[in-house]
Parts: sequence; structure tokens; C-alpha cells
Amino acid sequence: MNCFIVEGGHTLKGKIEVRGAKNSMLPIMAAAILNSSKQEIVLENIPDIGDMHMKKTILQSLGLQVSYNDHMLNIGSPELSCFTIPAALMKEMRSSIIIMGPVLARLGRVKVTYPGGCSIGPRPIDLHLKGLEALGARIWEEKGYIVASTSGLRGTEIHLDYPSVGATENLMMAAVLASGNTVIYNAAREPEIVDLQNFLNAMGAKVRGAGTETLRIRGVDALGCCRYRIIPDRIVAGTYLMAGAITGGQVTVEGIIPSHLDAVVAKMQEAGVILKVDEENISVLGGRLRGVETLRTLPYPGFPTDLQSPMMALLTVAAGRSKIVESVFEARFKHVEELKRMHARISVEGRTALLEGGSLRGAVVTATDLRAGAALVLAGLTAEGMTVVKEIKHIDRGYERLDLALNRLGAKIKRSMEEESKIPDRQQNVNGKMIKTNDLPSYLV
Ligand code: EPZ
Repeated sequence: MNCFIVEGGHTLKGKIEVRGAKNSMLPIMAAAILNSSKQEIVLENIPDIGDMHMKKTILQSLGLQVSYNDHMLNIGSPELSCFTIPAALMKEMRSSIIIMGPVLARLGRVKVTYPGGCSIGPRPIDLHLKGLEALGARIWEEKGYIVASTSGLRGTEIHLDYPSVGATENLMMAAVLASGNTVIYNAAREPEIVDLQNFLNAMGAKVRGAGTETLRIRGVDALGCCRYRIIPDRIVAGTYLMAGAITGGQVTVEGIIPSHLDAVVAKMQEAGVILKVDEENISVLGGRLRGVETLRTLPYPGFPTDLQSPMMALLTVAAGRSKIVESVFEARFKHVEELKRMHARISVEGRTALLEGGSLRGAVVTATDLRAGAALVLAGLTAEGMTVVKEIKHIDRGYERLDLALNRLGAKIKRSMEEESKIPDRQQNVNGKMIKTNDLPSYLV
């Protein structure tokens, strides 16, 4: 099943629960490598998504025992037997670069390949490698692998040139077993960093400052097991809210931490969406969509780059003009060409996209990364007629059955094989009836 067939024109209504955060789960699964006790780590609220299964395979390739059942992960690491991450798995999942820190901390040696490129631009790892060298690792290249080795990591001061999420996580996990104290300046402040700190401390680490730009870590001799529930996924929550807004519906997203979406709520309100924020829920109540002067993606607590493409989909049907500046990644506008197939009016110059709101028409489009794929589904919800979103494997990496979740709110999305999928004829709404445009008199097309 490799595509979604989305029937436009259905207003979403209802309540939906959000599972654990993919971008919390991935570093915390890597941190489980640091457990040198004989007991298992138990992780709760784990989403059933492609990236979880991929990371599970990577941990198993290192000798860990990993089992997943009903949104819970059990991870035992009695004998960490291998320090080489298979190249094929590295290519599949660039974020596995953050396995370097914990494996190096536990075994004193690690071998990885350069992580696969990604459709959101080159994904360098210079900040990761510079930080590991500062902690006392020797790093060299060997037959296409990056090898890091150390006789023992030593605490130090690290100044990150950019508040990289992955580099912050990698260095946190390397430093917790280093001898002495480590300070990481200009650290990423995302909620997922706080979740990783809390998990590491539950294992016996001594980490402070997560959520601020300065992390302080006191090295300990060993870390043990724990049971831990990861935070809800703020990006999935934002995607559902935008799905409600783009269809003019009323959707309540439950079981979240609303403060994680402050910048998103503010920008959606600026775009005319009426929202209600409670203790653990946020509701979209309606509103007339209007363009926003500037949406600039930034490191947390700014507007998250991962919601840039879903927000762009929303703004393509808002009245008036909008400007979007993608300041985090170099090339995160691959979804623009696909949205333009649906008659979106967008022009791109470097990291800036200019939009003119209008209406969308169903088309055959292709997901290029998980958030771009989600944006195309959202566009299909409001487009006239049918939309086929291809390559939905990207979406399944980070969203647990996005089709079923949205269908529970009233969407009509069918998961299908491409050859079976109904490639939408051009359809036109004539006096409230959807008629195939090839049947229409030319003056109506
Ligand atoms: C994490 O990626 C997330 N992935 C991304 O989510 C998210 O978009 C990103 O953080 C920003 O919030 C996971 O957590 C698994 P970065 P990461 O290092 O760690 C540059 C999604 O859709 N940089 O903060 O790779 C880099 O090129 C994914 O869920 C360097 O220059 O992001 C980029 O321009 C997509 N050198 C910027 O920093 C380095 O050594 C931000 O990257 C590292 C990064």
C-alpha cells in the first residue's frame, strides 16, 4: 500500500489523542544503550511508526534485546556486543548518528557511515564530531566509515556553533559517562532535550539545564535501568490542529502539553484560526483563514521547522498573501512543487516562499519527506475532488496511521496501491455537484 487517496471537501470534527513524540523516542532509544545493568528499560507511550521499527533493528544489530508491544518498548542491553552500525541502516535513518555518543561512552569505540542525505537539504554532522573530539575521542575515516575511539571520555566545555538538536543529544549521551564535568553552551532547547535529560537522570545520570541554552553534566561511572513515559508529540498535535483548521472544522487534540505549541498557536491565531487552549488539550473552533505577513522557522521556542510544510498547506487556502522563511534547513521546500500541482500559488526564492491564497484542486502528488507528505494530505482534505498522495512510506515513518486518525475525524482517506489508485479526473463543483471536467462544456472548465 503506497499511496493515500484523499477525497476533499469533508469538514473534520471531533477529538483525537496524540501518542509519544518521535523525536523524543529516537534519542531515548539510543540512550538505552547506556544501561549496563542486567535489568530491562521499559518505555511507555511509544508510537507504532516506521522510525521506531528502524531504530529497534539498529539496536538489535548492536546486540541489544528489543521488543515492542502495544505502544511499549522493552530494551535489555546485557552484552553490548558490536560497535559498528550497519551502513544500510545508517543510510535509511540519518538520525542514527546520535548512536555514536552512547556507544562510544559504553565501549570506547564506534563505527558509523555518513548518514544518508535527506530531501530537506544536506545534513552535516560537523558539530557532533567536533563535540566528541572535545570530549577526548579520536575520530578518523576508514573505508567510508567514520571511526571514533577513546581510552576514556573526559568532561570539558563545548560551545555549539548552532543549537543543533541532534548534536546536543549526542554530546549529552557521551558526557554522562565521561570523567568530570561537561558544560554544553548554545545547546538546543527543544522539549525533546528536556525529555532526554529526564530519562538519563532516571537512569542515574546527573544532567541539569535542559530547556535552557546551557547544559551541565556531571559524569558518573555507570547507568542503570528505569521505566519511563515519553512526552506527547507536539508536531503530530500541530498537524492535527492544522487539519481541523484547513477544513473549517472543530477538532480537539487531547493528551498534549499545550505550552510546547505556544509559537504554533500564536501563528495559527495570526492566520485567523480561533483556538481554545486548556490544561492538556487544544481545540480549533473555526475562524476565517487569512495570510500572515511572515512565518519564520526557528529553533525552539520559535515556530518549528517540522510544521512549516503543514502550515504552508493551510496558508495556500487563506485569503491574501503570506511569506514563509525556512531558516533552519537549507532545502525544505520540496513540497512546493507538489502543492503547485494542486493549483497552489507559491513562488520560492532561496529560503523564502511567497504565497497567494486561493483554492486547491485534487491531483497526483508525491511525498518527499514525512512533513511534506503530511502537508499534501492536509491540502487534499480541502482540495476539490480526489488527491492521490504517493510514497506514503515517508508519512508512516513519523505518523501512526495518519489516514485512520483523520478518518476518525470525518476525513475520507483510502490507503491503496498506486496501480489501483483512482487517478482523479479533473472534477468541478457545478451547482454543488462534482462533475468530471471532461464531461463539462468548455465554457465551464
Ligand atoms: C532534529 O533533526 C529532528 N529530528 C528534525 O525533525 C527537526 O527538524 C530538527 O531537529 C530541527 O528541529 C530528530 O529529532 C530525529 P539539527 P537534527 O541538528 O538533529 C545544521 C522530523 O521531521 N547542522 O537541529 O538533524 C543542519 O544542517 C525531523 O521529525 C549542522 O550544520 O536537526 C540544519 O540546517 C526532520 N551541523 C540545522 O543545523 C551539524 O553537525 C538544524 O539541524 C548538525 C546540524
